[in-house]
Amino acid sequence: VRIDGGGLTLVLAPAPGAAPRVAWFGPELDVGCDLAALAEATRPQRRAAAPDADHGVSVYPEGGWGFSGEPAVVLTAAGETVRLGEGAVEASGESLRVRFTDARLGLSLMLDWRLGPEPGLLTARAELRNDGPHVVGIERLASLALPLPEWADTGYVVGGRWASEFQITPVPLAATLGRTGHGGRTGFDGSAYAIAGEANMDDARGHVIAAHVAWSGESRWCIDTLGTGARQLQIGAAFRPGEIRLEPGARFETPPAYAVLSSRGWNGVRAGFHALARRLTGPLPPRRVHFNSWEAVYFDMDAARLLPLIDAAAEVGAERFVLDDGWFAGRRDDRTSLGDWRVDTARFPYGLAPVIAHAAARGMDFGIWVEPEMVSPDSDLYRAHPDWCLHAAGRERPTGRNQLVLDLSRDAVCAHLLEALSALLRGNAIAYLKWDHNRDLYPVDSPHAQTLGLYDLLDRLRAAFPNVEIESCASGGGRVDYGMLGRCQRFWASDSTDAVERLRLHRTMSPFYPPELIGAHVGASPNPITGRRAAMDFRARVAMLAHMGIEADPRRMSADERETLAAHVALYKRHRVLLHGGVQHWTPDGQVVIAPDGSEALALFARADAAAVARHPPLRVPGLDPARRYRVEVLGGGRELPPMTGDTLARIGLRLPFVQPETAWLVHLKAEAA
Ligand code: DGJ
Repeated sequence: VRIDGGGLTLVLAPAPGAAPRVAWFGPELDVGCDLAALAEATRPQRRAAAPDADHGVSVYPEGGWGFSGEPAVVLTAAGETVRLGEGAVEASGESLRVRFTDARLGLSLMLDWRLGPEPGLLTARAELRNDGPHVVGIERLASLALPLPEWADTGYVVGGRWASEFQITPVPLAATLGRTGHGGRTGFDGSAYAIAGEANMDDARGHVIAAHVAWSGESRWCIDTLGTGARQLQIGAAFRPGEIRLEPGARFETPPAYAVLSSRGWNGVRAGFHALARRLTGPLPPRRVHFNSWEAVYFDMDAARLLPLIDAAAEVGAERFVLDDGWFAGRRDDRTSLGDWRVDTARFPYGLAPVIAHAAARGMDFGIWVEPEMVSPDSDLYRAHPDWCLHAAGRERPTGRNQLVLDLSRDAVCAHLLEALSALLRGNAIAYLKWDHNRDLYPVDSPHAQTLGLYDLLDRLRAAFPNVEIESCASGGGRVDYGMLGRCQRFWASDSTDAVERLRLHRTMSPFYPPELIGAHVGASPNPITGRRAAMDFRARVAMLAHMGIEADPRRMSADERETLAAHVALYKRHRVLLHGGVQHWTPDGQVVIAPDGSEALALFARADAAAVARHPPLRVPGLDPARRYRVEVLGGGRELPPMTGDTLARIGLRLPFVQPETAWLVHLKAEAA
């Protein structure tokens, strides 16, 4: 069976008695390719000390029937482990389905795989139906189990922590490599991302498969290396023991997994995921320049003191004022008031209206911070409903950032939150919610139900207020995933606004997320988290290449800094359509974003550290139309270099003055009229 899409071909070969195996997953094969010969050439050899019917790694390995690697599925019913067996394949065009049935137990499982339409993309999910008389326990049900091509010898492990998210570490694949989330939310540990590639692949070269599960709860991935040398990648939601029990007549669907196969390193992964993220997000209006109050004033504000801050934000060009924390019922620090989503009357005696009007008069719309899934023990909500939080009866209630988590598996809790948020949005001209989530879930038996409750709440709120944009934040980048995508229009990628850190973070997030979804703010110098000092043009250029914002008090900047900031805000506005709709290529020296028709591009060459050599090679600009000639303008200094063809720019590059540590060049390229 063969399917084609997104520039890929997938060929499944039958394996009598077992699920089909993958005979090819890679760049599109010729139309006339001999599938029987392909199946024969890739058939696993017989080996000693192995089952007689050994078909290698299937599209959905099950445990307990001779396969010695990690199972993708473990189901139990009536005291037995379910047997899936062979599976029937139906395929057409770019998609296929494999159906397994356990007639004795009345169960059917369907895998649904589709290639494209985005370049290199495979989308996979599984669906289980229980038409039998028994309750079925789901211990494991991967969204995708993918036998890996033999070039995949290195895992690229995503991990990180608060204020240093999304680090990627290459690890040679020798045993089983993987991670299971335990915190109830996506978290910082990268458990929703699995990447297998060639060792030493880079931005432009090498094979890689990058996979992600669109789930905001606990996820699990593994890359399994068997004694035969075969490897498989699995990714999906994780389930706690006994968490998911499927009643007779019920159905369970896994979240989708997305895997992008690239033969040109990370840039190919970027092409696939950026196009996918744009499809799932839908069209966005031009991304406004945010001003976020958090690192400017923290909890230290009231209506009167916000007005001059709004003026200062408007003067440097901000277009949205986001009031981050501190605005509601008695909230003076992070110990109280979560759950009481009404405006603090001591700080805002006339409500938010005068503040919002002040912002509007200066051309800014208004956003506000909420953390709806949480409750402070010191809050009216908790006093009224002490049983609404996650807890174990009769046990202590451990807090995180002094707060407890509301139980979103309860309808009453979600109905209350929907009403509270709706009242806030109905009563105020709010264009934007920064939706925060500052702790892991515990104690909880079903984080899965909590995630479904969150999705339902977000979906209902979005349906009622379709024009309100939402940002997903969880202590910075603790809930960045495709389950939130489509529900949210921006990710707060990290609390660290340090430009050196951000340069690295934007690079490591970029395989999965296009720049317009990554919130990036110009912070203060010294940076409040890292203490690093950096020049304003460097800070502003790094933030400009994502969804730009400002998170520092302009009144505490020098006049020069304010002027430089305002100039870069203006540049961002001029180029944001290109930046947020273009094709992004990274190089060792920086990144370039190219208009889909090749007519213009913006490049950022930036260094965090000192170069090892005194003369670095010219800065290459890949991806332009090789035949066209481009005008080259160095922004910020108004300098123009001689025009060059796309071919010369890609193969030779630009001779710019040496890039010193913590400096950046911004270059605009515009194709000359044909
Ligand atoms: C944590 C977030 O990551 C910060 O950006 C800020 O919104 C604070 N919470 C506010 O309490």
